[in-house]
Amino acid sequence: MPQFLGIEWVDLFSSIQRKKTYLGVVYHFMLTYPLALFVTILPFFLLFTFQWHILALYACWYFYDMDSPRRGGYSSDWVRKWRVNDWFAQYFPINLHKTAELSTDKNYLVGIHPHGIISMAAWSNFATNGTGIYEKFPGIRWNLCTLALQFRMAIRRELLLLTGLIDCSRESIEYVLDKCGQKGRAVVLVIGGAEEALDAHPGYHTLTLASRKGFVREALITGAYLVPVYSFGENDVFEQMENPVGSRLRNFQEWCKSIFGISYPIFHGRGFFQLTFGYLPFRKPIDTVVGAPIPVEKVENPTKEQIDELHTIYCQKLTELFDEHKEKYGVEKDVPLVLR
Ligand SMILES: *[C@@H]1O[C@H](CO)[C@@H](O)[C@H](O)[C@H]1NC(C)=O
Repeated sequence: MPQFLGIEWVDLFSSIQRKKTYLGVVYHFMLTYPLALFVTILPFFLLFTFQWHILALYACWYFYDMDSPRRGGYSSDWVRKWRVNDWFAQYFPINLHKTAELSTDKNYLVGIHPHGIISMAAWSNFATNGTGIYEKFPGIRWNLCTLALQFRMAIRRELLLLTGLIDCSRESIEYVLDKCGQKGRAVVLVIGGAEEALDAHPGYHTLTLASRKGFVREALITGAYLVPVYSFGENDVFEQMENPVGSRLRNFQEWCKSIFGISYPIFHGRGFFQLTFGYLPFRKPIDTVVGAPIPVEKVENPTKEQIDELHTIYCQKLTELFDEHKEKYGVEKDVPLVLR
């Protein structure tokens, strides 16, 4: 990499393949921040330039389509197979490793850990075919869950629905795994959520899981098998400012989270033209390992004991998965998985 003024710049003479993977990550970045901003401003722009009929037309569609995120969405294989998704996966690269088959006559509630700063692996593996999920788990239909807020922004919401994203509410999960009456469906939840993002430091494996039991309850109610998934490297693609539990920064972040529901990790990656600072992720490998499904017996009204029991099994299986595969993916033997 060329070095100039103490900063590492991108290599303009890199291979075409490398440039494509760069485009893949820029596309994802656009989707995450600038597009969100653009579509938030667009309605006001249309209103004040008297293009209100476009707005009115869209509003009709919006109200017609309002329930889709809670009714399984409308995943499109075509959108999920866009080449830009392959480039995104190859940037890091992200790889998907399977340890067991998923049969198409069952449904699955898949827990992916850790959240990282913005869940690169969850998106790449389960919302696109970037890592070859269609070939690895033939016949399974995947839906990645996200916050309802993501489905409020025009255009962006349709794009997310086309990649199979759905709302993470109970109603939405129960619809796909039970009420719609289909088999071979898999709902993917980033269990640790915003809370876990605050622990996304390179080299650490700290999960917010001990107190999160809602997903286990959903598995019992719908009878969906639980599948633990761990992404090695997810915490390595950004740097985050030190915020140990009890520090002033952490207390402030916890306070923000309790008020606004969103955590604000202070992070950075690389830039568009240099590798020292910016909001693009670093090129570091992510290895996602899908564990074996844990059988679940359907229970209409699960008791606290039943939930706790299954939660304990899930935590055990996830820890085993982590310990069995960690050394292959760059984690030292004595580094533990911490469940908070
Ligand atoms: C999915 O991705 C894999 C690996 O990149 C590729 O071999 C396969 O052809 C893709 N499947 C489809 C249906 O496009």
